[in-house]
Order: sequence, then C-alpha cells, then structure tokens
Amino acid sequence: MTTSVLITGASSGIGRATVLRLTVHPEFTVYATARNPEALAGLAQTGARPLALDVTDEKSMEAAVAAVEEETGSVGALVNNAGYGEYGTIEEADLDRVRRQFETNVFGLARMVQLVLPAMRKAAQGRVINVSSLGGRLVFPAGGYYHASKYAVEAMTDALRFEVAPFGIKVSLVEPGLIRTGFRGTAKAALDRAADPSGPYAALNAVADKQMAEAYRSKWLAAPPEAVAKVIEEAATAPKPRSRYVVTPAAKFLVHTRRLLGGDAFDAALRMQYKGTNWGG
Ligand SMILES: NC(=O)c1ccc[n+]([C@@H]2O[C@H](COP(=O)([O-])OP(=O)(O)OC[C@H]3O[C@@H](n4cnc5c(N)ncnc54)[C@H](OP(=O)(O)O)[C@@H]3O)[C@@H](O)[C@H]2O)c1
Repeated sequence: MTTSVLITGASSGIGRATVLRLTVHPEFTVYATARNPEALAGLAQTGARPLALDVTDEKSMEAAVAAVEEETGSVGALVNNAGYGEYGTIEEADLDRVRRQFETNVFGLARMVQLVLPAMRKAAQGRVINVSSLGGRLVFPAGGYYHASKYAVEAMTDALRFEVAPFGIKVSLVEPGLIRTGFRGTAKAALDRAADPSGPYAALNAVADKQMAEAYRSKWLAAPPEAVAKVIEEAATAPKPRSRYVVTPAAKFLVHTRRLLGGDAFDAALRMQYKGTNWGG
C-alpha cells in the first residue's frame, strides 16, 4: 500500500536529507515542500513531488494538504520539520522576530497537524513526526526564545499523542542535537542582530557565539543531517514508533546529564563555561 509523506522545510538540511532517505522506499509517495518550490529542483531525480508550502500562510498550508489528500486520500505521515532559531538574550531579542519564529516553529506546526487530522482520522491511520530539538529538553543562554518554541512543541506533541491514539494515529518527537545544516548560520545571524556589542550582555553573547561555533565544528558534538533523516525514517516505518527519539550520542549524554543534575547544578555547570565573565560565578 502506498503512503503519502508530507515533509515541511525540505529545501535544505534535515528536511532535504529526509526526502532523500524516504524516497528510497517504494511504498512512500514523498511530498517535498518549501516556501520557494524552486529550491526543490535538486530533488527532482528522487521522484519526490514538489509542493509550495509556507507554514506561516494559511492558504498555502490548506492548498498543500488538499493537494496531497486529492491524490492519496489522506496524508499518511506528516513530518513537521520547518523551523529556525531566533537567538538573542531575553532582553535584547526583537519580539516581533520572536513572534515570527513562533509562527513557524509552533503555530505553523500546530496548524499543519489540525489540517491533516480529519482525513487521517477518517482513514483510521496516520503518523505525525514533529522535529523538536535537544533544545526542547534543556536550555542554553542566548537561545531562550528558540528553546521556548521547542518546549512548546514538546508539550503540544505529548498532548497530541494521547489524544489521537484511539484513531490509529501515531505521534513521535524527534529531538536532534547539533546538526550541520543552515540552522547555525540562521541562529548566528539572529544573535548578531540582537546582540549589542557595547551592551550589558556583550560578554555573554560573545561566549555563547564562540561555544556554538566550536560545538558545530566538533566531530563528537555535531552530526550531519542524514543522522536525523535515519531516525525520522524509523519513526515513519516502525510498527510501534517511540514517543521520543533523541538524535546523536552527544545529545543523549546532555539530556541525561541535565536530568541527573537538576536545574541548579546544571546552571553551575553552565557558569563554568562563562568563567572570566560576570556570568562565571
Ligand atoms: N541543525 C540543528 O542543529 C538542529 C538541532 C535541533 C533541531 N533542529 C530543527 O530541525 C529543523 C530543520 O532545521 P535544519 O537544521 O534542517 O535547518 P535549515 O537547513 O536551516 O532548514 C530549515 C528549513 O525550514 C524551512 N522554513 C523556515 N521557515 C519556514 C516557513 N515559514 N515555511 C516553510 N518552511 C520554512 C527552511 O526553508 P527556506 O529554505 O525557505 O528558508 C528550511 O528548509 C528545525 O525545526 C530545527 O529547529 C535543528
């Protein structure tokens, strides 16, 4: 039986790698979506069907879901992947930009779920795979608004999984650690925009940026997007998919450490990274 898979944010990074991974399965009809469908030209040889989809645009979301349902009855699996990080300290980040990030990471994801569910319930089957983050399990300074968006995704997904289980719909969270994609560049650009180099958080922003740069360069800490695509494939194909998949050994270690340390000891560990600044304790 053929199942349709709709992937948001397929123009690059994890979304693109997931298209490449899932199109290998003959049982999947993969709908690769992007704000600008021209960005999907490189995926033509995979057999994926390109669709325009901006998760901040109601009409665009309705049209994309309708197109898939017209061809296949219902969306077999929705991979909510589109997202980015509006970095900056809580005081300095521009709240209009933060609202836009929530429109994409949280409300876009929620609306896509709302749009696919009626046909999934009717079909008595379907999967929702929400791409959250290690950042939905713990928080780093200068990333508070990004983390908040992923904590929201975690909460909504936990509720959803329970709510739709009786309808035969399976729901999973995929929680990547650091992945080498366009994400870091977007996050850095946001941090650079928000950070006032002569402001009160200059030293904190500088350390946060340096650490992110080093972490994304590290072979142990950061992985390629294919590592996440493999896990999304597992969530899409396993007879009993897990509720959560933490991706990368480093992310597993950090989630475990955060749980063991609790809030205060985790803050103390963070302060060690900020030695020599006001935040170093
Ligand atoms: N990379 C990491 O370290 C990391 C870690 C944990 C979680 N994640 C999560 O993984 C997901 C994918 O990110 P990535 O790492 O693959 O980064 P990426 O290469 O920057 O890809 C982000 C994708 O989201 C799309 N997007 C942004 N706004 C959109 C909108 N309004 N409508 C539709 N698509 C939109 C982008 O499309 P355009 O090309 O049109 O901008 C792009 O395809 C995100 O949810 C991110 O939070 C990433």
